[in-house]
Amino acid sequence: MKVDILLGLQWGDEGKGKAVDVLTPRYDVVARFQGGPNAGHSLEFNGMKHVLHIIPSGIFHEDKVNIIGNGVVLDPTIFQEEIEALEKMGLTPTKNLFISKKAHLILPTHRLLDAAMEKGKGDKKIGSTLKGIGPTYTDKTARSGLRVGDVLLPSFWERYRALESAHIDILKRYGFDYTELLPSMEEKWLDSLRILKQFTFIDSEYEINNYIDSDKHVLAEGAQGTMLDLEFGAYPFVTSSNTIAAGAFTGLGVAPAKAGKVIGVVKAYCTRVGSGPFPTELFDKTGESLREIGGEYGATTGRPRRCGWLDLPALKYAVMLNGVTEIVLTKADVMSQFETIKICTAYEINGEQTQRVPFDNTVEIKPVYTEFRGWQQDVSDIRNYDDLPLEFKQYVQYIEKELNVPISVVSVGPDREATIVR
Ligand code: GDP
Ligand code: IMO
Ligand code: MG
Repeated sequence: MKVDILLGLQWGDEGKGKAVDVLTPRYDVVARFQGGPNAGHSLEFNGMKHVLHIIPSGIFHEDKVNIIGNGVVLDPTIFQEEIEALEKMGLTPTKNLFISKKAHLILPTHRLLDAAMEKGKGDKKIGSTLKGIGPTYTDKTARSGLRVGDVLLPSFWERYRALESAHIDILKRYGFDYTELLPSMEEKWLDSLRILKQFTFIDSEYEINNYIDSDKHVLAEGAQGTMLDLEFGAYPFVTSSNTIAAGAFTGLGVAPAKAGKVIGVVKAYCTRVGSGPFPTELFDKTGESLREIGGEYGATTGRPRRCGWLDLPALKYAVMLNGVTEIVLTKADVMSQFETIKICTAYEINGEQTQRVPFDNTVEIKPVYTEFRGWQQDVSDIRNYDDLPLEFKQYVQYIEKELNVPISVVSVGPDREATIVR
C-alpha cells in the first residue's frame, strides 16, 4: 500500500480541511506532516463549522487514526484549546489521535520572538501568523529545539529553562518588552502540558510504515500551500517548512517510493494572507466581491485575505514541484454571479511573456488573461458533474487541459455534502 499526499497548490487556504474531511472515509489513517498552528483548516457538517490548527482533519471520523507527524511544530496551549473544543462535541480524541515524539514544541518565547522579529522587519515584515513558527523551526535546524517526547524526560525542565533564557537574550537585543506578556503565557503553557501528556506519544515513522505494510490506507495532510514553501515560495515571504510533497517524506518518515496519489487542492481563484508577490491580485470591486462572497478572512488570524484571479503559471509550477496526480477544485461557487471570469495564462515581465515564476520578487509582473463567460447560476445544490452549467464545465476542462491533471472532486460549498465526486 502507498501513502497518498494531499496539499495546497497555491498560497494556503485552498480548502484542504474540507477536502481531507470528505476523503477520510477512503482512508484508515490521516497524518499531518508539517506546519503548526499557523494553519487553519475549516470543515463544516451538520450545520456546524470547525477550525483545526494542529490536529489532522480526519479527527471527526472516530474510527480513523489521526497522527501529528514529526514534521509538525506543536504549541501545547493551542493544542489544549483544540482538544477541549472536540471534547465539548462529545469526541474522545485521546482514543484516535497520536503524536510523534519527534514533533517540535513551540515555547511561549518562540511566539514572542516571532513578534519581535516581525516588528524588527518594519515594512519588510513577512506578515507571519505570530504563532512562533519561524523561531521554532529555526531552533529545530539549529539543534537546540525541544520535542514532544522530551516532556517525559527528567532533563526537560533544565533544557526548557536554558532555551528560554537564550530566547530572552535575543528578545532583549530586539528591545522587546517581554516581562508583562511572558508570565501569563508561560502559566497557560505549563498547564496545557497536562493535557498533552494524556495523549500517547509514538514513534510515528514506525507506526506509519507498519500501517503501509499491513495494507492500510494512509493520507498525508499538508498545511499552507506550495507557494509558501520554504524552498520554492517567494522567499523570504514563505513559511518555515516544506509544504510540497517532498515534505511528507521527511515530515512522516516515509520513503518516496511509498508515495501514491498526490492530491492538489486548488481554489478556483487565488488568495494570500501576509506579504509577498501576488501577480493576479485585484484591488477593485471584483477583489472585494471574492473576499465578501468567499468569506476570505483568515481562519487563524481573522485577517482579510488578498484576492485575485486564478494564476496558471504558479499552478503549473506547483504541479511540477509536487507531481500532482489529481486535483480537488474548490470555491468556484463563489464566482457564480460573475459575468466574466479571468484566468492568468502567462506573466509579462519587462515586455516579454513567460510561463515561469521569476526568482526576483521585485520585478513587476503583468498578468496576461484569458476571459471566460460566467455561468451566472447558483451551483451550490448540484451534486452531479453533468448537471453543472456548461460554462462551469468549460472552466473546469480548461484548467484540466492546461495543467494536464484530472480534476477528480469539485467542491461547491463549505459543507461536507456540497461536493461533486467525478
Ligand atoms: P484550508 O486552510 O486549506 O483548510 O482552507 P481554510 O479552511 O483556511 O479556508 C477555506 C474556506 O473556504 C473555509 O471557510 C471553508 O469552509 C470554505 N470552503 C471550502 N470549500 C469551499 C467551497 O467549495 N465553496 C465555498 N463557498 N466555501 C468553501
Ligand atoms: P493553511 O494551512 C495561508 C502565511 C502567513 C505569512 C507566511 C508566514 O490554513 O492553508 P508563518 O506564521 O508560517 O511564519 O507565516 O505564511 N501562512 C498562511 N497563509 N494559510 C495558511 O495555512 C498559512 N500559514 C502561514 O500569512 O504570510
Ligand atoms: Mg487555512
